[in-house]
Amino acid sequence: MNVLVFASRKGGSGKSTLAAHLASYIANPSRPTLLIDADPQGSLSLWHELRGQSDLSLKRGARSLDETLKEAKRDGYQWVLIDTPPNKSPAVVEAIKHATLVIIPTRPGLFDIAALQDTVQVARELRKPYAAVINGAPAKRHDVEVPIVSDARGALNALKVPVWSGQITHRADFSLALAAGEGAKEFEPDSHAAEEIQRLWNALDRSLSAIHTAYKKAGSGRAAA
Ligand SMILES: Nc1ncnc2c1ncn2[C@@H]1O[C@H](COP(=O)(O)OP(=O)(O)OP(=O)(O)O)[C@@H](O)[C@H]1O
Ligand SMILES: [Mg+2]
Repeated sequence: MNVLVFASRKGGSGKSTLAAHLASYIANPSRPTLLIDADPQGSLSLWHELRGQSDLSLKRGARSLDETLKEAKRDGYQWVLIDTPPNKSPAVVEAIKHATLVIIPTRPGLFDIAALQDTVQVARELRKPYAAVINGAPAKRHDVEVPIVSDARGALNALKVPVWSGQITHRADFSLALAAGEGAKEFEPDSHAAEEIQRLWNALDRSLSAIHTAYKKAGSGRAAA
């Protein structure tokens, strides 16, 4: 079972947005997927209510996460995506403890990059694989990322923070799809938004395979647990 945790103490970085779009992209009958909304704001739960489909289950994070994850494994879920609140509370640390991979969305600004370091520190202390994802970026020009995005990438590289090589652009489709209870691909299959989520998913899938291989080589079954 893969546990993807969306964490950043910076509000509005895109945790709930990426969790919802990726979950709706991943979920299909051969990839049983569970969402856990560990944020009392309940953004993901609201989206799930609007969705009203049974392909994707959601649990609110009121109960012990440990129990919820054990139950998810017993129930045969392969993918669990956990949305967390914008802080470093014990609930966030607990979620990161259970992560196969921590996804840290960040807007490409100075304050955003500065704030992300707190979450990076928690992931490092808990020895959890993590990656930043640049979200809400200005659109590329002639397929080249704009300076604010390349500067953010440079700052992340300088901090030795692994960062996805792509970007999630600021696009109305991302918000409009959520308001319809859908993911980008369901909302508009041929859109740039759908393509970006697909690229992010492909990269995450590759990273997760590498993580599992590394755990196997190290003789630990933890990642596959
Ligand atoms: N790539 C994007 N394009 C357009 N709008 C976006 C994008 N990413 C996020 N948003 C919008 O920005 C707002 C904040 O995003 P979101 O709620 O996902 O952030 P968050 O990190 O979950 O926030 P919080 O920390 O408060 O939980 C939302 O209104 C969302 O629709
Ligand atoms: Mg949120």
